[in-house]
Amino acid sequence: MKKTASCILCSLMIQLTVIADNNRVLYKDSSAPIEKRIQDLVSRMSLNEKIQQLNQYVLGENTNANNLGEAVSTIPAGIGSLIYFESNPVLRNEIQKKAMKESRLGIPVLFGYDIIHGFRTIYPISLAQACSWNPGLVEQACGVAAREGSMAGVDWTFSPMIDIARDSRWGRVSEGYGEDPYANGVFGAASVKGYQGKNLSDPYSIAACLKHFVGYGESEGGRDYHYSDVSAQSLWETYLPPYEACIKAGAATLMSSFNDISGIPGSANPYTLTTILKQQWKHDGFVISDWNAVDQLINQGFAANKKEAACKAFMAGVEMDMTDNDYADFLPQLIAEKKVPMERVNDAVSRILRIKFRLGLFEHPYTPEASESERLLLPQSIEIARKLAEESIVLLKNEKQLLPITSRYKRVALIGPMAKDKENLLGAWQAHGQVNDVESIFEGLEKEWKSNIELDYAKGCDFEGDNESDFKEALTAAQNSDIILVCLGEKGNWSGENASRSTIALPSIQEKLVSELKRTGKPIVLILSNGRPLELIRLRSQVDAIVEIWQPGVAGGASLAGILSGRINPSGKLAITFPLTTGQIPVYYNMRQSARLKEGFYQDIPTEPAYWFGHGLSYTTFTYGNLKLSATKIKKNEKLIAEVEVQNTGAMDGKETVLWFISDPVASITRPMKELKFFEKKELKAGQKSIFRMEIDPMRDLSFPDSNGLRHLEAGDFYLTIGNQKAKFELVD
Ligand code: BGC
Repeated sequence: MKKTASCILCSLMIQLTVIADNNRVLYKDSSAPIEKRIQDLVSRMSLNEKIQQLNQYVLGENTNANNLGEAVSTIPAGIGSLIYFESNPVLRNEIQKKAMKESRLGIPVLFGYDIIHGFRTIYPISLAQACSWNPGLVEQACGVAAREGSMAGVDWTFSPMIDIARDSRWGRVSEGYGEDPYANGVFGAASVKGYQGKNLSDPYSIAACLKHFVGYGESEGGRDYHYSDVSAQSLWETYLPPYEACIKAGAATLMSSFNDISGIPGSANPYTLTTILKQQWKHDGFVISDWNAVDQLINQGFAANKKEAACKAFMAGVEMDMTDNDYADFLPQLIAEKKVPMERVNDAVSRILRIKFRLGLFEHPYTPEASESERLLLPQSIEIARKLAEESIVLLKNEKQLLPITSRYKRVALIGPMAKDKENLLGAWQAHGQVNDVESIFEGLEKEWKSNIELDYAKGCDFEGDNESDFKEALTAAQNSDIILVCLGEKGNWSGENASRSTIALPSIQEKLVSELKRTGKPIVLILSNGRPLELIRLRSQVDAIVEIWQPGVAGGASLAGILSGRINPSGKLAITFPLTTGQIPVYYNMRQSARLKEGFYQDIPTEPAYWFGHGLSYTTFTYGNLKLSATKIKKNEKLIAEVEVQNTGAMDGKETVLWFISDPVASITRPMKELKFFEKKELKAGQKSIFRMEIDPMRDLSFPDSNGLRHLEAGDFYLTIGNQKAKFELVD
């Protein structure tokens, strides 16, 4: 009895000492400035504790098929970060408890995960999101992802991907926001704001990670993980601007890229990782390598062995090593040999701790363990996914106003491998999305039309292969119908990581199905779900309307049904050009002018792509008034206001996006024929007019970078373009 009482007393005293110590320990004092807390903590850390912070391990079942087979290491208490593959916070809290209780200094682990277009509530892929031209909605969707992710125990997402991609053979074109640097910057920033919220320490905020820094989208031949030849000019002009915009929006971290940038790999490139990112842009967060990218410096011929790889990546500016353990294994030796200075180690550790402090992990290391119904697939979350899907859908063609489908059609044949499919509507990077969460096209239409329109379904064919045995049933359904909806496209895993295709055409079986249906003479609406632009040269002329729904996520069926019935007016416009054939790649709107204006065309096909960047039809008409400028001449420190009145002159309410382009016809470094500088989307009721306005700031909108990143603002003529109107103005010294 006496013994027990003294034990209780003893443990009480220990606890009191811990509390007293905590109050004295500066890094644990939440009221102290973060920089002081970092300094204090780093000063207490042993070398081993510092090095542990620089490594990321994995926990749980790996859902990235490209990285399967990687061992789940036994997790030491003091590690920097874990990729957390589970969807419940319980396991995470267990690991966190180990870190908080068993590591000497109680430094929380940072849990990361690929939340690319939703955690459980899967919304459209990023390429589709950009076609909505609605960054506010993208911000809301990323907010949903952050809430679901954070409540599952994720502190950090490896998103957004803002790699400009102009080769649609590359599967990862689906993960970015299309071909334009400005659009990638705007949507990337919206996504950063959505994930990170007002403050990183807010309960549902998670840290964003811009990837893949930089030039990954330039992969030769559209093959993933390949060499990329990026000139210094295009680095500054095309690939870096979205990163700069997202860093200005507060992005906490970046991921280095797999590709070589003209001979110096993205994961060991001191110019991009240190000179530009840390010195010029003053980014104070950290960079993580891509998965095994440190080791892969050996494959790329940039390092002879793991030790050299670790040295080159770390010294170039990669602070955290994703999963390949090279920092843990070799930094101690490299430091002892003075190849890596302690200042660099301290800087790297401080950067990682800074994000942990900003996330409030020291104060709130654990995730509240709420039930799934309280945190996943909430009705308001699905509603946001639905709105985003609706606005992402692009009406590519609508001959003789075939769409929307009104009551003049009584029987609709719904044909094609995508018609009842759910899995593929989720696209690549499904995170914790589940097939049964998805509303298929068939289900969406059944709900939309109830018994007013009769739906006759036939699969027609598989996504690929040469089995034509289902054609007959499809033809019968088509013959008995008033109109044919044929739902084709790509499987979800045909795009995304490590999913390049040598042609962007649909497999011939799908094209053949359309040719067969064409013989019925019935009007055909082609519905496409895919993760990249497609080659439509053979399909386009055979169908009367084309609706691009991309990979729309859980609410795809309902969104498409609303568009087909006319309940929703389509408002998406392409954020990437659709080449006419694969052979036209690369083709993008912001190309430079060629030397011979009337030559240099293809001999076998037209040189025009099928659908340019910005293309997208509506069920209403928008009439543009004259483009007006506040002046025709401005000085470099003056602003110019451009305005246009747009009226909805059709019978249906709708949304219009005005894309504002600037051209600089003569400059000391040649400029693209036109460049997007601003866009705005507004809803206009039938008959309503509204003024769209752009303010031109010469330094921001008329200057251009040279190959060192220095900006030049040159006097001369410029053009502002919207739709088919062009206005000239002059910039004077
Ligand atoms: C991909 C990254 C991803 C990482 C972690 C890599 O293979 O390139 O985009 O974030 O795996 O899953």
